[in-house]
Amino acid sequence: MRIIKAKTYEEMSLAAADYIMAQILWKQDSVLGLATGSTPIGVYNELAERNRQRRLDFAQVRTVNLDEYVGLTADHPQSYARFMRENLFDHLNIKPENTHIPNGVATNIDAECAAYDALIQGLGGVDLQLLGVGHNGHIGFNEPDAAFPLGTHQVTLTESTLQANQRFFERPEDVPTKALTMGIRDIMQAKRVVIVASGSDKAAAVKDMLAGPIVPQMPASILQIHPNCVLFADEAALSQM
Ligand code: F6R
Repeated sequence: MRIIKAKTYEEMSLAAADYIMAQILWKQDSVLGLATGSTPIGVYNELAERNRQRRLDFAQVRTVNLDEYVGLTADHPQSYARFMRENLFDHLNIKPENTHIPNGVATNIDAECAAYDALIQGLGGVDLQLLGVGHNGHIGFNEPDAAFPLGTHQVTLTESTLQANQRFFERPEDVPTKALTMGIRDIMQAKRVVIVASGSDKAAAVKDMLAGPIVPQMPASILQIHPNCVLFADEAALSQM
C-alpha cells in the first residue's frame, strides 16, 4: 500500500481529490465507489468546487455507494442517500440515475443485496473505491468478524460503530442497528482503492491496518494485499507508525 502523508486534513483532502480527478480525466465514465462519514467531506467539497469551475466533468461518471442504514428511507435526514445528495451529488453535473446506493428499506433484503452485486458487475466493476476506516478497523460496514464477508450483505453494527454514529442522531435509540454494506470481495475487486484517514483517534486503526496481521478481526488489514491501494492520511492519523 502506498502512503501519502499530509500535514493536515485539508492537505489530505486536496491530495485525495487530485488522485480521484486524475482517474476521472483518464476515464470519463469511471465507476466510483463512494463512502459516507466525516472524513471524505473535504474531498467531496474539493471535487464539487473543481466541477463548478469546469475543471472536472461528472456527466458520464457512475457511482456506487458502499452502504446504507437498514430502515431509513432515501429522504430520511440521516440516510446515506441524503448525505450523498447534500454533500456531493447536488453540487455536481452527475446524472442522478447514474448514482446508486443500497436500498435500506427493501422488503427482501437478500434480493436487494444480490441485485446490488449484480448492478456493480453490470457496470463493469468499480474503477476507484474511496474508503474511510472505522475506529474498529471496519471498511464500508464490514465489522470485525470471524471471517471476511464477500458480497453485499446485511450487518448488525457493533457497539463501537453505534457510538461513533450517535453524533448524527438526536437520541441514542434513533441510531439504526443494522446496515447493508458492500462486502470485502466487492471492495477488493475495485481496480484502485483510495483510503482516507484523519485525526489521532484513527491512529490505532491505521497502525493495525498497515502493520498488523491480515485478519477479519481488523477488516481494513485486507487492503495490505490490494495491488493498487493508496492511503491518504494526515500526521495525526499516522502518529503511531
Ligand atoms: C461509510 C463507511 C464507513 C466510514 C467509517 C469512517 O460509508 O463506509 O466505513 O468510512 O466509519 O467514518 P468517519 O469518516 O466518519 O470517521
